[in-house]
Amino acid sequence: MSKHIRIFDTTLRDGEQSPGATLDAGAKLEIAEQLARLGVDIIEAGFPAASPGDLESVSRIAAEVGTANGPIIAGLSRAVTRDIDACWQAVRHASKPRIHTFIATSKIHLQYKLKMTEGDVLRNVKEAVGYARSLCDDVEFSAEDASRTDVAFLAEVFSTAIQAGATTLNIPDTVGYAQPVEFAELVRGVMDRVEGIEACYVSVHCHDDLGLAVANSLAGMQAGARQIECTINGIGERAGNASLEELVMALHTRKEFYGCSTHIETTHLTRTSHLVSARTGILVPANKAIVGGNAFSHEAGIHQDGVIKHAETYEIMKPETVGLTQSKLVLGKHSGRHALRLHLTEMGFEPFDDDELDRIFKRFKRLADKKKDVTEAELEALVADVHYQPLDLYILQGVHVSCGAPSIPTASVSMALPEGDTQTRAATGTGPVDAIFTAINRLLPFEVKLLEYAVHAVSGGIDTLGEVTVRIRCGTGDAERTFRGHGADTDILVASAKAYVAAINKQARYECGDVDQQVAESAGA
Ligand code: KIV
Ligand code: ZN
Repeated sequence: MSKHIRIFDTTLRDGEQSPGATLDAGAKLEIAEQLARLGVDIIEAGFPAASPGDLESVSRIAAEVGTANGPIIAGLSRAVTRDIDACWQAVRHASKPRIHTFIATSKIHLQYKLKMTEGDVLRNVKEAVGYARSLCDDVEFSAEDASRTDVAFLAEVFSTAIQAGATTLNIPDTVGYAQPVEFAELVRGVMDRVEGIEACYVSVHCHDDLGLAVANSLAGMQAGARQIECTINGIGERAGNASLEELVMALHTRKEFYGCSTHIETTHLTRTSHLVSARTGILVPANKAIVGGNAFSHEAGIHQDGVIKHAETYEIMKPETVGLTQSKLVLGKHSGRHALRLHLTEMGFEPFDDDELDRIFKRFKRLADKKKDVTEAELEALVADVHYQPLDLYILQGVHVSCGAPSIPTASVSMALPEGDTQTRAATGTGPVDAIFTAINRLLPFEVKLLEYAVHAVSGGIDTLGEVTVRIRCGTGDAERTFRGHGADTDILVASAKAYVAAINKQARYECGDVDQQVAESAGA
């Protein structure tokens, strides 16, 4: 019998702490719905005390995704009454709510950040966990910076948490400092020292500063942890968190070795990765394990020859197992609405209502007219673009570009503005993208600086959709914020304009209080 490992996904909390990865409430709900389809056991939906917007979006996820058959919905809170109250207010709408509360335990955090003694921390844990448990039957307690905490004190902290009612105890490697053997020893050390721990779930939460988050999580699990905290694409604070898809596929591919299993539907991994990348604007590197563009492609002749003769010569996993069907041509310009609906259902999308299907169909027809055959990856990108309609304050109406050599790249952009009127501006630039972005900047009442720009093709072929992601900076000093935007189009200059305007809309919505920014700063998590 294989041991079940709980997958605790924190894409919407720790993942959202990635620079510029701000998500609005609609995108968070969409990702939560996909995480539920993926089969995660717990969704950490956010940090309700960070802002009214975060509280609102955790409440919505709790009510709409945390159904009786759905996952546990957790919210994070510092070990203080105000945070715990806000957290409970949000997660109580779920069938299976969880309060996740934390306090730092390492000497360096106690001395410089919290300015508390070990005695103060123990009292705080007793009160906070006890209070959380008076509200909710499922309470997780995390000892922040556990991997740099003296194991004897850590054990005392966890014993206090258990006595106060904690049901899951989390051991984070907050700064990604631990080494696998050492981290396993820490987990074992805690399990040996803490009375009553066998009745609780022991969890691990590892960051990737030394590239060891997945290895440390697996080592912690082998030492006895039964819950792993992770994020889609490994996004998160600084270098990120342990990557869900890597952990899950390690357990799946090497099940005899680990003797453990998860409830994850692995065929949903690729789609979930695409969705998170599109919504956060954080591109997945081509060489990223499991979900990177090159993860299943064989370049060297010897490898290609081997794979043709017998796939397992160089393939330890089948691409279909992770839901990779990128190159499959599925529909063409003669396909009708019915075929499209059928195919989307086969791909695992929820049935769309007639209006939504109409919008997807129109976009599909435009694409099919341009390139004849449409692949599943392209359909997925279209659905992601159409299905998700955030409230845009700036709406791109038109882009015209003139470039080439020898000439000065020139762009004119028309955009509907929040005041309701549509205006047009023109600009020249070092290249066509620079000219477009400068023209857009001329339509804005605030300054925008471009920090990152990336373009990639959705699937092979020169006629495919181009996807562009940008990261921008707005404001200065304390008011400085970064936002990411994403756009897809067969014309990469139009995709560039869409991505830039998407990021600008996040800034505009942030100004209106609809988007929360970097809860990490207020939490110190
Ligand atoms: O990295 C960390 O320590 C955390 C905790 C709040 C669990 O994110
Ligand atoms: Zn973390």
